[in-house]
Order: sequence, then structure tokens, then C-alpha cells
Amino acid sequence: MVRQRVLSGVQPTGILHLGNYLGAIRNWVEGQSQYDNFLFIADLHAITVPHEPAALASDTYTLGALYLACGLDLNDSTIFVQSHVSAHSELTWLLNCITPLNWLQDMIQFKEKAVKQGENVNTGLLDYPVLMASDILLYQPDKVPVGEDQKQHLELTRDIAARFNYQFCREKPVLKLPEPIIRKEGARVMSLTDGTRKMSKSDPSDFSRINLLDTPEEIRLKIKRCKTDPIRGLTFDDPERPECNNLLTLYMLLAGKTKQEVATECQDMGWGQFKLLLAETAIAALGPIQEKYQAVMDDKGYLESVLRDGRQKAEAIANDTLSKVKAALGYSVPL
Ligand code: TRP
Repeated sequence: MVRQRVLSGVQPTGILHLGNYLGAIRNWVEGQSQYDNFLFIADLHAITVPHEPAALASDTYTLGALYLACGLDLNDSTIFVQSHVSAHSELTWLLNCITPLNWLQDMIQFKEKAVKQGENVNTGLLDYPVLMASDILLYQPDKVPVGEDQKQHLELTRDIAARFNYQFCREKPVLKLPEPIIRKEGARVMSLTDGTRKMSKSDPSDFSRINLLDTPEEIRLKIKRCKTDPIRGLTFDDPERPECNNLLTLYMLLAGKTKQEVATECQDMGWGQFKLLLAETAIAALGPIQEKYQAVMDDKGYLESVLRDGRQKAEAIANDTLSKVKAALGYSVPL
């Protein structure tokens, strides 16, 4: 039986935090044996905002090592670096030329980031969703798991694919329209200092997030200091208590318990007791990942060989799609 294909990626910008892990990588790992997975490091997306070359290089390695440390299995998953497969950039150009400018100007994430950056908005930031569409469409995946914030980019990807097929290959469509998988719980892990905002790499305060490589002491301190409320007894889904909902959700995901189990266990707890429980649960969940991460980082040769093999497998598929796109657009095969 041919397994359905899954494709997804994470940007190598700074150290991964629990939001990235619970919202993305952990879900890939859980579902990986059912699918044929292509999981990449989105290093071309990482330069749509100002960046440091040295940091980009080391963050790319770190993220590759974390993919392995989090449990991606090379029997099920192909891991590669976006910039190693030049078809991503090439297809982006081709799709740029069929994507209406106003589709990109209407993207929520672009508008938000553009406001934050003021004058300093580059064309790449606007074009980010077309690169993302290319990442996806090259591999003809059945499913693309992403967080809630990427949903609009997935819809755009489908719109671009449909437009391409309609304009250039109506009889025999070249591009497959992928199905998004939007994970609800854990898709949005919120900040430790403000339960209404997403846990984010770009928050200036490190106390707002737990990073996958934080030490037990750091985790204990961050959870001790995190924002709570003056109410005793903890409940999910109270709109007046966003922090409470977020911390219970974190505990649920890290402990691997059901919502009902956590609701019952924590209904009479005070914050002091719960915070200790959450901290120790987070430390226990991250310990094995951190050990494996160290082992991979101590063997750079192995990591490089994983990324080299990944590139080869990815390139074969990507180049095949790219050739079909070019043929449909009327490009001749180079002699
Ligand atoms: N833009 C995604 C994010 O920031 C990362 C990404 C790039 C991606 N290309 C992708 C995710 C293709 C899924 C599919 O989360």
C-alpha cells in the first residue's frame, strides 16, 4: 500500500520552544509511521526578516539535530534543508508570475509583520507565502500539518495551485491541491507571561517561553514566575482565565493525559502545587530529547549524512514536479 505523503517545515530562527514542539514536531512524530513524511528546515524563509549569517548556519544544524532528537525516524521521514534543493527557489519565481499581487498584500501575517517592521520590509517578506506554496507543491503532498497561524498560507497555496492548473494544464493538472491539517490543541501554545498571546521566538522576554534546551533550573524558574490569577481551583476554557487554560493545556500535552483527566486532577489545586507539578512534568518530558540532542550534536558527520541523504531523496521528487511545471509553462528542455 502506498502511504499518503505529508510535508511540513519549521524555520531555523533561534532555539525551538514548547510551542514549536507541541504545535508541530511532536505531531509529526506521532503520525509519522502512517505517512511518507518530508520534513524540512525552512532556511530560505528565515531571511525574510533581518538575519545574522552565523546564527543562520548554527540554527540550521540545531534544528536538524532537534528533529532527530524529537524522534523523527529516518525509515518514515526524509529530513532536508530547504536551501539545499534549488527547485524551491526556482518554482517560487515561476509561481510569482501567476500570483496576483493583492493576494499577497492581503495575507494577515504579512500585514502584521510589516506593521512591526515599519520601513524595513523587504520583498521577500511579501513573497514568503509563494515560497511556502512552492515548498509544498513540489512534493505533491496529501497533507500539510501546520499551526493555526499558517492556515491562510495553506489556502493561498491551494488557490495558486488551482490557478496554475486552470491556466496551463486544464486537461491534465500538474499540481496537487494539498489538505491542511490544523491541529487545535497545542497548535497554539500561549506565552507564559500573557495567556492571550502566542508563545513566540520573537518575544523579547525569555520568561515568556520554555525552550526545548532549557535546563531544569531554568524551567523551574520560568514556571515559578509565569503569570497566573488569584483564583483557587483550576479549570479549562474559562475566557476570563487565559493563563489557566494555557498552563493546564501545557500540562495535559506534556503529561500525555486527556483533558478530562487533567480537569479532574487539578480542579481543587492551588497555583503553588500546580506549578511544581507542571515544572517537573516539563523537565521529565524534555530530558530524553535533550540527551538525544547532545548525542546528535556530538556527531556532526552523522547529521551531515542525514541531511545529504534527505537532500537526494527530496531533490528527485522536487525536480520531477519542477520539470512538469516548466513544460506546462512552455519552457523547452535545455539541450
Ligand atoms: N511558514 C512556516 C512557519 O513559519 C514554515 C514553513 C515554510 C512551512 N514552508 C512550509 C510549513 C511548508 C509547512 C509547509 O511555521
